[in-house]
Amino acid sequence: MFQIFSFLLYWLKRVDQHSLHSPFVFQFFTEVIRSPHHKNSSIESIRKALRKSKADIKVKDFGAGSRVSNNNIKSIGSIAKHASTPSKFSRLLSKAIDHFGYTEILELGTSLGINTLYLSQTKEVNITTFEGDPIIAGLATSHFEKLGRENIEVIIGNIDQTLPDVLKRSKQIDLVYIDANHRYEPTLRYFESLLPLLHERSLVVIDDIHWSKEMNEAWGVIKDRTEVSLSIDLFEAGLLFFDPNIEKSDYILKF
Ligand SMILES: C[S@@+](CC[C@H](N)C(=O)[O-])C[C@H]1O[C@@H](n2cnc3c(N)ncnc32)[C@H](O)[C@@H]1O
Repeated sequence: MFQIFSFLLYWLKRVDQHSLHSPFVFQFFTEVIRSPHHKNSSIESIRKALRKSKADIKVKDFGAGSRVSNNNIKSIGSIAKHASTPSKFSRLLSKAIDHFGYTEILELGTSLGINTLYLSQTKEVNITTFEGDPIIAGLATSHFEKLGRENIEVIIGNIDQTLPDVLKRSKQIDLVYIDANHRYEPTLRYFESLLPLLHERSLVVIDDIHWSKEMNEAWGVIKDRTEVSLSIDLFEAGLLFFDPNIEKSDYILKF
């Protein structure tokens, strides 16, 4: 019910390029959000095979559970269908990487690694992806090997413990995709810990900002932070930019 109401609000408020006065947002909308980007057939064939899989695995639940089931035995097919980022959004992230020339990328929440495959398409990028469940992380790793991706490091363990260690050895972060524990407190905590490593051109993407009341609240608090200059709500996810030269603004855009 909450998601239906939130979508209705989003649908009523969203705008397109005709209402955009900020040159940065106009350019981002036309050159990244709306620019064409084709599906990667190798990645999509892995997704297709996973969606068909009826094999069951026992999964650890670190986050806010599943949209469809709280059962710890899940089929790989159901994880691929319900936990993976839709291709359209993964392609948007990939376009943002190319557009801004990002190289240092974190993904909180690997799952089967389908989205990671989109993030790691260019050799120049270094991806660090975090997954708590060792069986799921093992499956993701096999997909990275299958497509010969050598630019991905998989960090296995609870992000609450693994993220601080990885951040200690990082110099700066260009892009972070937060798609793991969909709860208020961890979302704010992860965001807070990332802040010192962000720079003027960094982008933080928070998935499922309207999935629940608490995620909606987390999004509201984070986008109001003084460090955030521009926030963009695409319903699927929220995007945060930090360039102090952009006047503080908040957009709801068609996606
Ligand atoms: C929504 S899925 C990620 C989907 C992935 N980004 C994609 O698009 O394919 C969330 C994943 O985060 C993992 N996760 C959730 N909370 C975690 C935590 N605290 N530590 C480690 N992993 C966590 C879950 O095991 C799950 O596989």
